Amino acid sequence: MNSAGVDHDRLLALAAGADGARLAQLRQRVAAGEPAPYVAGFLEFRGRRFASDRRAYITDPEASHLIDTVNAQGRRLEAELGRPLRVLEFGVGAGTLAITLKLENPQWSLGGLDIDPPALELGRENARAHDVAIELLESDYLSGWPASAPAPDLMFADPPWGDAEDLYDEVRDEAWYRQMPERSAFPTGGGRTTIHDELIRRFAALRWTSLLILNYGILPRELIERSVAPLSRWQMLHPRPDISVVAGYA
Ligand SMILES: C[S@@+](CC[C@H](N)C(=O)[O-])C[C@H]1O[C@@H](n2cnc3c(N)ncnc32)[C@H](O)[C@@H]1O
Repeated sequence: MNSAGVDHDRLLALAAGADGARLAQLRQRVAAGEPAPYVAGFLEFRGRRFASDRRAYITDPEASHLIDTVNAQGRRLEAELGRPLRVLEFGVGAGTLAITLKLENPQWSLGGLDIDPPALELGRENARAHDVAIELLESDYLSGWPASAPAPDLMFADPPWGDAEDLYDEVRDEAWYRQMPERSAFPTGGGRTTIHDELIRRFAALRWTSLLILNYGILPRELIERSVAPLSRWQMLHPRPDISVVAGYA
């Protein structure tokens, strides 16, 4: 059981069913360092099952706090606008978060962008398995968003952040994250907020008036304040005392 209350052995037991020999094999692979969701072939998030393999990032259970924030802020915005929201996820990966939001807010339209085609392929498989319609597009930052499409009302993301020292717990150590696709876990090229910084720069350049909600995980406050400085207004929320999520406007 890790600090987010996730029982990785439970995933293996579910994957093995009644086959004790298979369970022993799966446990051996985890003991040798493979992440349990990749070994089991699925992860659980907010009570739902999502296929998981090496094509995509393993959704952190802590991302549930980001979903709570998007639900709360999104429902307030929806009441203000008086119509269902158009919501876009940057860095959608295997689709866990976008699919969850669509299932929890069926009236919203959901889209997702990711730079990584294999991750998007898994995202499409997960969307089909959950029978939800979400638009998934290949995109480096926001470049893949069609110029003719209206801006989303709300854009959210858990972009890669931090470095090998910024960890949620000791089970998910650097070796855990290094087994995921290269551009999914830590920002490439150094800098603990470089993807957030560039995303904010490009978001502002598009002059979108959307509400932007970004997870900064457990990064220190000074770093986050520097990263969000280009936004005209923002607030830092702490859905869990040590986790920071920023909601703001360009
Ligand atoms: C931390 S993972 C989160 C994935 C997913 N939201 C989840 O929680 O399972 C970050 C995602 O951002 C994507 N990404 C990284 N750099 C990107 C870029 N420049 N443009 C679009 N997506 C990017 C990665 O491919 C990865 O899927």
